[in-house]
Amino acid sequence: MLKGGIPVSESKILVDVNNLKKHFSKGKDMRGRDTAVLKAVDGVSFQIRQGETFGLVGESGSGKSTVGRCLLRLYDYTAGEVSFDGQPLGKLGEKGLKPFRRRIQSIFQDPYSSLNPSLNVLELISEPMKIHGIYQGDERKEAVAALLERVGLKREHLYRYSHEFSGGQRQRISIARALSVRPEFVVCDEPISALDVSVQAQVVNMLEDLQSEFGLTYLFIAHDLSMVRHISDRIGVMYGGRLVEVAESDELYDNPLHPYTKALLSSILETDPQKVSQRIQLDGYAGAGNSGGQAELREVSPGHYVALD
Ligand SMILES: Nc1ncnc2c1ncn2[C@@H]1O[C@H](COP(=O)(O)OP(=O)(O)O)[C@@H](O)[C@H]1O
Ligand SMILES: [Mg+2]
Repeated sequence: MLKGGIPVSESKILVDVNNLKKHFSKGKDMRGRDTAVLKAVDGVSFQIRQGETFGLVGESGSGKSTVGRCLLRLYDYTAGEVSFDGQPLGKLGEKGLKPFRRRIQSIFQDPYSSLNPSLNVLELISEPMKIHGIYQGDERKEAVAALLERVGLKREHLYRYSHEFSGGQRQRISIARALSVRPEFVVCDEPISALDVSVQAQVVNMLEDLQSEFGLTYLFIAHDLSMVRHISDRIGVMYGGRLVEVAESDELYDNPLHPYTKALLSSILETDPQKVSQRIQLDGYAGAGNSGGQAELREVSPGHYVALD
């Protein structure tokens, strides 16, 4: 795909995820040692090029949001590394992270809980600008008004509160807030899942327009493949904390190789309940279990990777 005049496949690697693991403690003994761990992310590697949209799919609990939160450095990782524009983020403290807290932004699923109800739209959108010292006074207000119009809202909305808006409008406010500090990379964690189907496409189209306008790179997380195919250049499929398949979007659709990818696809393409139940059979699938170590991905055709069993 061509973005901003250069093919994405030739642009620089912006995000480099290398054998990332994030384990959560499920219990501790009397000495405070972990007695059981939940391997939410267990050896995930992928790269995202500048201007690219990398989709991450997989059913609920497969570890997608945890990957996103690690990329945002909202978590410390258990092992592995995430580099942004060549800089490893894992060992940076808050001071070192500050520039990356501007360059990397997020949009979450729930536009209801992610917007502080006691702030008006002007305050909501200008808050990140204040933190990062972008514009002052009237200039800042003008920038917020321009952004608001860019995401399809109006200047007269500046002094309203988030509860006065619909879900779709709130998500537009969240997008304006994320873009207010001119980020390079945006983690979109199920940004349309909570919205009415009628407004999902509008928000996705807007995200695409904003991407080419501002040269953005996206991680686009979703639990099914329907909208992701449209927006993503490449897609990674997560299962049990691991990536089981990575391919260009159309290739993944036309030629899914991993049984889990096939099941995921059939569950959205098939209305026949017997065929949908195919995915249940995957409960016994051992290839991506929490057995430790990195799942090995094998390149079966150019750019198409699948987990070895
Ligand atoms: N903060 C946390 N503490 C403990 N367990 C967590 C935490 N966040 C996620 N998990 C667990 O990690 C697994 C992966 O969760 P998540 O990344 O949210 O999956 P997804 O976004 O694909 O639905 C789940 O089993 C979830 O319960
Ligand atoms: Mg999630």
